[in-house]
Amino acid sequence: MNLQTITANHRYVVQSLSAVHRTESVHAAVRSGLTSWPKTLPPILFYDERGSKLFEDISELPEYYLTRTEQAILDRYAPEMATYCAGELLLVELGSGSSIKTRTFLDVLYAGDHRPIYQPVDISESMLHATAEELVGEYPELIVRAIASDYDQGLVEVGEQRDRQKVLLFLGSNLGNFSRTGAQELLWKVRQAMAPDDILFLGVDLMKPWPILQAAYDDARGVTAAFNRNVLVRLNRELHANFNLDRFRHEVLWNDDVRAVEMHLQSQGRQTVFLRDLDLLVAFEDGETIHTESSHKFTPDSLDRLCGSAGLRVEKSWTDEQGWFALNLIVPAVDSLT
Ligand code: AVI
Repeated sequence: MNLQTITANHRYVVQSLSAVHRTESVHAAVRSGLTSWPKTLPPILFYDERGSKLFEDISELPEYYLTRTEQAILDRYAPEMATYCAGELLLVELGSGSSIKTRTFLDVLYAGDHRPIYQPVDISESMLHATAEELVGEYPELIVRAIASDYDQGLVEVGEQRDRQKVLLFLGSNLGNFSRTGAQELLWKVRQAMAPDDILFLGVDLMKPWPILQAAYDDARGVTAAFNRNVLVRLNRELHANFNLDRFRHEVLWNDDVRAVEMHLQSQGRQTVFLRDLDLLVAFEDGETIHTESSHKFTPDSLDRLCGSAGLRVEKSWTDEQGWFALNLIVPAVDSLT
């Protein structure tokens, strides 16, 4: 495993995927995305320091109901969720961000004497540092073993730990940002990292009328538009590209075939962009888009099927009064146990 320990304090450690490897994979993803048709960029590129901060701002917008709704479900049901946790445990969180919702769960675990070790896995190293430091300050006995990497690398590391029950958190409908096949492959990797008694709490956004979704992804203040365009800001800075931000419009649409809200950056006029570090010239037609993100929406049935296809089973679901969001307890399917 190509991880290096970059910070060690007596209560927390952050391990990071080597910077060289990360730069290489960003270059490869950008080249392949901008030379394919239609053009794409992977949503993981949103989350540099500014992008992670913009996503936090999105989470507080009145239109972006996801974070608030999931938090309300957690506030109400975390004590019941904790009854599925046995003894001292390893609390793994995929895509932890600033771990705000995690605190609700940690509070309940502490009250029940579970003495968790917390293992956040996130691509943003700076966010992991800041959060780990805050958490060890807030929870006197907490040990944090953070991993700065993508999910694939992180899950290999997580799977090697078998001395405690693992409780995995995958919140915020982050799973929705994967294609159906990508989600199935990721859940399969989660399954492989799980021992028979390990459990997963998975938060997913549910289907709802388009006007609600549209407002959530195209807010009045333009924070989501700035988040979307930030990917170009990042390419300008990190790859010495010359995207003119004013000539790419934030576009949001519903793709009914795959039941997803899609974000695009639409070229305003014909133009070419040069990415110096890739020695790559990219031509855009007027109206052509770069597809930057899909946010898939689920139904109870589609989630059942997806989990089933990855050797997992939905044991229980908690939802809000409007049925907008679901937090699900997922366990290894009996017939997938080896
Ligand atoms: C992180 N992810 C689940 C968010 C979503 O809703 O798909 C990212 C986001 N994109 C636009 N707004 C928020």
